[in-house]
Amino acid sequence: MRYRRTPIEIEAPESLGYDSIANNLAESSFADMSLGEYGIDTDVGELLLQYGDHRGVPALREQIASDSDAVGADQVLVTSGAAPALFIVATALLESGDHVLIEEPNYATNLETPRALAAEVEGLPIRFEDGWELDLERVESMLRPETRLLSVTYPHNPTGAMIDADALERLVAIVEAHPMARLLVDETYRELAFGEPLPVAAGLSPRVISVSSMSKTYGLPGLRMGWLITRDPELDEILLAAKEQILICGSAIDEEMAARVLAARGRILPPIRTQVAEHLGIVRDWIAGQDVFEWVEPRAGVVGMPRFRDPGAYDAERFHSSLLDDHGTYVGPGHWFDQPRTCFRLGYGWPQTDELRRGLDALLAAAADARA
Ligand SMILES: Cc1ncc(COP(=O)(O)O)c(C=O)c1O
Repeated sequence: MRYRRTPIEIEAPESLGYDSIANNLAESSFADMSLGEYGIDTDVGELLLQYGDHRGVPALREQIASDSDAVGADQVLVTSGAAPALFIVATALLESGDHVLIEEPNYATNLETPRALAAEVEGLPIRFEDGWELDLERVESMLRPETRLLSVTYPHNPTGAMIDADALERLVAIVEAHPMARLLVDETYRELAFGEPLPVAAGLSPRVISVSSMSKTYGLPGLRMGWLITRDPELDEILLAAKEQILICGSAIDEEMAARVLAARGRILPPIRTQVAEHLGIVRDWIAGQDVFEWVEPRAGVVGMPRFRDPGAYDAERFHSSLLDDHGTYVGPGHWFDQPRTCFRLGYGWPQTDELRRGLDALLAAAADARA
């Protein structure tokens, strides 16, 4: 493995210090929450802190599996976040030189672990100009007989792009026509669909692996609670072996808390969805009321990727430094996603409403400071 820290981690708000940012529009989740705010009973005084079920406590896995009729609790493997789930999948499936096709831009770990393994990483581009649409014919033409993995993220980070259930089924069919390949669907934002969520992808075929977590939808990244799902028993055994070698089992307390949160999601999710929709409306109105930035409006999730309409008219370095230093506002600059710094990820789900409004004003003020 050739590990390297990625810019998104080095420059993350938590690395900078949350206190140094007045208006944090750089986050990719719903607002950070406490269990108390969700009304979850946090008493674990009687919980035995033994090594637990290596797959994860059954009550939690049952909650996770209940999202799909095609998936059972025994096909769920709990991990400490989606990031380790992605790591386990990449290290279990890929060796140096293996061909892997990964949607780009993407959440950095999706690209970085295959790179660290010295796999042959080929980007599957989605572009602003195409409305961030995935070109399925292109996917088909880029897959090779020897491709080991096709990796997509939906709802998408950092663009807010989305596919529909038909497109997901077509992706599955494309992968099934390639005997060596598997499809990894990073579903970390699945429950933040604006309408009906996509089906749990692993339920569609044993050749598909789903990855998700509690971090984004519930604003609970500090719980470090995620999972992966496969219906392929042989692959499942390998993924379990990887987890056992890294962790043995998960944290009994975290798993208990996660199970309690998911048991209450019928109550917890609706206000989250309402607030996300309100915030998207605020950004939509802001975009319509100015002519400095443009975006493809997100179709799901809590992030979008605006850019300068006329990038030549602005100094991107000055824009980002003025935005933070003079206007206390932070966004995810394009280089976090191997994109130009004239575009940026804007997270509208995390900030409080006032903070979001102030941050949007600050974007225009910093752009004015940065006119070339
Ligand atoms: C698409 C995607 N996958 C996975 C992760 C990792 O999240 P966690 O490990 O907190 O579940 C992130 C975090 O930003 C993400 O955006």
